[in-house]
Amino acid sequence: MSRATTATIHLGALRRNLARVRERARGAKIMAVVKADGYGHGLERVARACADADALGVAALGDGLRLRSAGNRQRIVVLSGPDEPGDLAEFRRLQLDAVIHHESQLAWLAADRSASSKIGRPLRVWLKIDTGMHRLGFDPQNIVEIYTKLQALPNIDPDIVLMTHFAASDEFDNGLTAAQIARFKEATVELAGARALANSAGLLGWPTAFDAGAAREDGWVRVGGLLYGLSVVEGKIGADLGFEPAMTLSTRMISVKQVQKGERIGYAATWECPENMPIGVAAIGYGDGYPRSAQPGTPVLVNGARAAIVGRVSMDLVTIDLRNVSAAQVGDRVTLWGSELPVETIAAHAGTISYDLTCGMTRRVLFVEDDR
Ligand SMILES: Cc1ncc(COP(=O)(O)O)c(C=O)c1O
Repeated sequence: MSRATTATIHLGALRRNLARVRERARGAKIMAVVKADGYGHGLERVARACADADALGVAALGDGLRLRSAGNRQRIVVLSGPDEPGDLAEFRRLQLDAVIHHESQLAWLAADRSASSKIGRPLRVWLKIDTGMHRLGFDPQNIVEIYTKLQALPNIDPDIVLMTHFAASDEFDNGLTAAQIARFKEATVELAGARALANSAGLLGWPTAFDAGAAREDGWVRVGGLLYGLSVVEGKIGADLGFEPAMTLSTRMISVKQVQKGERIGYAATWECPENMPIGVAAIGYGDGYPRSAQPGTPVLVNGARAAIVGRVSMDLVTIDLRNVSAAQVGDRVTLWGSELPVETIAAHAGTISYDLTCGMTRRVLFVEDDR
């Protein structure tokens, strides 16, 4: 029997989540954010499930290349744009939209020789404004000037999309988001063109952000987490927000044995058995992407029944307290997260967020898909 560590990706859940986003988007176009290998769910697979999205958002040129090589013809936006001047010819060849966020990219565009070859359609540009996150983007004060310069460049689509990204939109009472929206509006008041402000939490919790972009017919929302059914609000699970998890992570039990009271389990012997008890060992560990930081007490499901991890997570294995699942045996299915065990619960036990966990699956995990 080969190692059974499996991430099952539910294409039906992805499709339904996209439809739910569409319902809430009040006519705005939807960019399905599929960066980081589709938040760990598989880039090409997620793109296929999101065939109805108006665009796909990826982090880097290489992802655009992967999607085009797989035959994808959707609009694709590279969220950090070109990394070096030579990338521009690839953007044109592959017909990828470029987010432009830095002066260096403006200089590359101005000097771009591939612009003079009139092959294909003009380069589509999304102009990113730094309204307060202070990661990528131009100072709002310079936006009108940069926008005007960009529009004057040869072979650039004059329909430039204006965008910004929120730093704290998941906190629905955080004034920073309101300030970011106000800065965005002020900086762009004179400019035509589509707006793209809201991420998942912006869509759920910031109608004003949303109106600033989507009140216009050509508004966009850029949605990642909700597509995958991941919560974008602390203390909630995806289902609380009306979305379904698109990944189930499971494996099998490969050992069950009795361990005596006072004996210690696993590396560094950190967990002591309080009584004679059954300990199960499941074939998953941090070498698969299960978080090493998961604390004793982190829940798992053994044949659907709730049990908990004890001892340290090791590279290939986790150890499980089976006192509540006395019938457990070798070969039983062990679920690490999925619809019956929210990934957000595991993230909370591991001191991280759900995105970190789904993005962290390694190549050793077998990926399969179903229509559920
Ligand atoms: C620029 C940009 N837009 C949209 C998103 C999607 O965010 P979320 O997963 O919160 O919807 C991301 C993800 O971090 C992003 O970097």
